[in-house]
Amino acid sequence: MSPQRPLFSLIIFLASLSLCFCYYMEEPLDQTNAERYPVHHNWRLIKPKHHQHFGFMPRTSRATWTSSRPHGTVVVSVDDYGAKADGRDDSEAFEKAWHDACSRGAALVVPQNRIYLLKPITFSGPCQPNTAFMVHGTIKAWPQISAYEQDRLHWIVFDSVSNFRVDGGGTFNGNGKKWWQNSCKTNPNLVSHALLIKLPCKDGPTAVTFTGCNNLRVANLRFIDAQQMHVTFQKCFNVIASNLVVRAPENSPNTDGIHVSETQNIQISNSDIGTGDDCVSIVSGSQNVRVTDITCGPGHGISIGSLGADNSEAEVSNVVVNRATLTGTTNGVRIKTWQGGSGYARNIKFLNIAMQNVTNPIIIDQYYCDQQTPCREQKSGVQLSKVLYQNIRGTSASEVAIKFDCSRTVPCREIYVQDVILEPEGGSGGTIATCENVRYVNRGKFFPQCSPPPRISMWIADFMSIDLRNDSWLQRMDVGGLMDVGEGFLSMDGCRRKKELLE
Ligand SMILES: *[C@@H]1O[C@H](CO)[C@@H](O)[C@H](O)[C@H]1NC(C)=O
Ligand SMILES: *[C@@H]1O[C@H](CO)[C@@H](O)[C@H](O)[C@H]1NC(C)=O
Repeated sequence: MSPQRPLFSLIIFLASLSLCFCYYMEEPLDQTNAERYPVHHNWRLIKPKHHQHFGFMPRTSRATWTSSRPHGTVVVSVDDYGAKADGRDDSEAFEKAWHDACSRGAALVVPQNRIYLLKPITFSGPCQPNTAFMVHGTIKAWPQISAYEQDRLHWIVFDSVSNFRVDGGGTFNGNGKKWWQNSCKTNPNLVSHALLIKLPCKDGPTAVTFTGCNNLRVANLRFIDAQQMHVTFQKCFNVIASNLVVRAPENSPNTDGIHVSETQNIQISNSDIGTGDDCVSIVSGSQNVRVTDITCGPGHGISIGSLGADNSEAEVSNVVVNRATLTGTTNGVRIKTWQGGSGYARNIKFLNIAMQNVTNPIIIDQYYCDQQTPCREQKSGVQLSKVLYQNIRGTSASEVAIKFDCSRTVPCREIYVQDVILEPEGGSGGTIATCENVRYVNRGKFFPQCSPPPRISMWIADFMSIDLRNDSWLQRMDVGGLMDVGEGFLSMDGCRRKKELLE
């Protein structure tokens, strides 16, 4: 080898590095960057008006409202099948009405200003296209826990329904108080005083479950006081959920707002969630998930996970959380995995997020342990990579505003931080970042910063290959001609409607 060779190689190496770097400087990662959606610097002064204030109101609003009754659709009222809304069980009338609506492709209608009590019930498909479920009034859960003996995990289930729509401005009320008192979380060793023995605690049902659904639209609904989770999308494909309101007390256990599991192509937008657990949780098997224009609080924030429980394999990819406002939540944007899992969560973007007095604004927790007994460290873990935090601002209720607690055996790779500023709530004291087993790069503002700061390394180039802008799945979605395509930005109508829903 000639003596110049090592020097020559070094020059080539440096040149390629600088090439990468130029590319990196010039090519914005995403169009929705800090410049397009600046966070209001004075937002602390703006009082949320009935939670209508979105930190990131887009400049252009596209009307997303469709009239609440599909045109030209046959309407089937539950009252015509014997529903009384008189405090007795209306399940049978609903079953009959569903059978009729489903077989004709009609709209089942739950009339306004009436409260119908339902025991656990499954509305099964397949149905004729354009079947709809229009809730104008209130559907309330049957109060006696004994009615759930057959299946403790579900109250209302929509199973295997395609090209289907649930809408109407009405309410699903899970009547959950009794369940919360019996929850394993509230009361792990429930004692029956009458019998003086310990009874096993009981898991509660999810209020509304969509399972095996295809081309589904769920819009303009309120979900309150669920027994456990409020709405779950499970094994669904092509879902648009918008203009939903979720309300449960801050201390109600396991009452996740919207839960996404094994679901592909789902957009959740313009929704206002205040509850006792995660506002939105996204778990294994989920792909192409967009969560936009969400207000969250109280609650545990927006979570990916938990993943990898009981040594399970997790797969989550292509998740975008864009424009969210979190107020007084225990977490902001969180990824949580258990020790001992496997698989991955990757291609995840958290963009344009306002935090107001959030306890853990940015957190990756790969030592998640939500059980009575301690969890021991294990060799395997869920691999986290290609995660972007961009334009995230606001205040932290705790000193640790950024926590990357990644697995020792499977460190986090390609974590990208851009324009993140998290200051202490109240302005006194300071914030810190704790960063374990994480490889990250930052650009723009980054405060508080991990120490020591990262070294620029070759994987920046890899990171640039992330492309979550592929919206072709959204364009393909069509629910009986009723599906809106696009971001579903909050329109003025949307604002008014949201206010109505909240009152
Ligand atoms: C901020 O959050 C903390 C802890 O959740 C709470 O104790 C405090 O009252 C909150 N401060 C404000 C100004 O809301
Ligand atoms: C977007 O996704 C579709 C289907 O998954 C694929 O065929 C297409 O090539 C992708 N487009 C880009 C620009 O990546």
